[in-house]
Amino acid sequence: MKVLALCGSARRGGNSETLARALLDGASQAGHDTELIFLSDRIKELLADCRSCRDADGRCTIDDGYEDLILNHVVKADALVYATPVYWYGVSGQLKVFLDRLFCLTSTEHPDSERVIAGLAGKPAALLISAEESYPGATLGIIHELQEFTRYVGQKLEAPVVGIGNSRGEVGRDPQSPVDRAMELGSRLFDLRATDYRIDTVRPSAVWPSG
Ligand SMILES: Cc1cc2nc3c(=O)[nH]c(=O)nc-3n(C[C@H](O)[C@H](O)[C@H](O)COP(=O)(O)O)c2cc1C
Repeated sequence: MKVLALCGSARRGGNSETLARALLDGASQAGHDTELIFLSDRIKELLADCRSCRDADGRCTIDDGYEDLILNHVVKADALVYATPVYWYGVSGQLKVFLDRLFCLTSTEHPDSERVIAGLAGKPAALLISAEESYPGATLGIIHELQEFTRYVGQKLEAPVVGIGNSRGEVGRDPQSPVDRAMELGSRLFDLRATDYRIDTVRPSAVWPSG
């Protein structure tokens, strides 16, 4: 299996990268292929008005590597990792634009939209958050946004790992061990049991198998 981590931080060697690399290490130790991509390397432009910038074939004309990122990396991955710092109580702009621009590639006017939609769905997803502040409200907006996004596209989101730190790599000193937890999550990414019941969901009374 291939695990792709998308790092939304503006800086290299930071806390989001530290958590993402730890998760990928765990996945790698479990035998999976891994890749880490900095969104700032592939996204240089905001979403524009698609009516003005689609070409005659319906493709996005913003030529900054985003389409390649989606078609040749995201769609081909078997699991996706979203790593973001908290910026003003939300996701980083890098991650937000990544999400916004999916609008163009999932639109029926885009010639690859069916492949993109199918390539987003059904995958395990992990959320890694780096923040300076530890109170729960600081990360709630991000958790809510990614929960709704992954629900909409059909990904199975595991509980997030939040690392507290500010200076580069400081999450490694967080006593709640987010680096270890990210690594452990990476090792069992394909064994996730993400559940979201409805009243008519047929299910056993126990969550985990006994014995
Ligand atoms: C533009 C900006 C906004 C930030 N806003 C918040 C915030 O609202 N709450 C918070 O806890 N930390 C905030 N921080 C701190 C970062 O979330 C924190 O330093 C994080 O560990 C950085 O991750 P990185 O090393 O991956 O860049 C902000 C940092 C920047 C640069």
